[in-house]
Amino acid sequence: MIRAVDLNKTYYQGRTAIRAVKSASFSISRRETVLITGPSGSGKSTLLHILGGLDKPTAGKVFFDGNDIYSLSDGARSRIRNEKIGFIFQFYHLLPEFTVLENVMLPALMGRGDKKEGVADIRRRAQNILKLVKLNGRACHRPAELSGGESQRVAIARSLINSPDILLCDEPTGNLDSTMRQEIMNCLWALKEKENMALVLVTHDERIHDGFQRVFRIEDGTIEEISGEKYVPQGLFKRQVCR
Ligand SMILES: Nc1ncnc2c1ncn2[C@@H]1O[C@H](COP(=O)(O)OP(=O)(O)O)[C@@H](O)[C@H]1O
Ligand SMILES: [Mg+2]
Repeated sequence: MIRAVDLNKTYYQGRTAIRAVKSASFSISRRETVLITGPSGSGKSTLLHILGGLDKPTAGKVFFDGNDIYSLSDGARSRIRNEKIGFIFQFYHLLPEFTVLENVMLPALMGRGDKKEGVADIRRRAQNILKLVKLNGRACHRPAELSGGESQRVAIARSLINSPDILLCDEPTGNLDSTMRQEIMNCLWALKEKENMALVLVTHDERIHDGFQRVFRIEDGTIEEISGEKYVPQGLFKRQVCR
């Protein structure tokens, strides 16, 4: 579904070049679960943004279902992003002036194009998705009235409104305590199964690893896939499932 070919990203700060991603090549198939771990500053967010069509690589290509996404027009790339790719970030990025329900509806309203789905239908779908994340009681609240875990569940609901093929999660539990962290991970796993999506999660948190089919490690911009045996988590749990 996604194929990354020799991705490189270099930032320039004055005369200094920062190579945030170095020669990354890999593929992600439909419904696969992929964990990318690495310390802060290792290039995780940069890589995820490139994969999701948000940030053009300095060199290399990203193919989504065979389309070289950075050779497409901005409009065509936005459409793929809106219809096929869901994003979840550490800091939720909810719009404060809109209600929970409106926040969830927004990507469907923006991406309506020629589908002409009625607003009432979108509202109904958004309400159903809010039930999946157990927030139907909060539909009319504003983001400021929610806890961190609730806010992240709204962001998850919003990411699902257009039924993406893949969900890209950037430190989705980075801002949460351990109870909420578990709650969000459980929520992501349940929805991943239900919605038949691929899930890619990047984190510096070594405690998150159970159940992912594939694990990558990124260090100083270089990404490497690690097998079950080579992967020794530094956190509390033993790794249970690998492929
Ligand atoms: N917009 C930017 N301009 C300059 N340097 C950046 C920019 N974004 C990220 N970097 C640098 O690229 C490296 C990788 O950053 P990032 O992808 O955010 O890492 P991570 O998500 O693993 O913490 C870091 O050294 C960071 O300082
Ligand atoms: Mg990051």
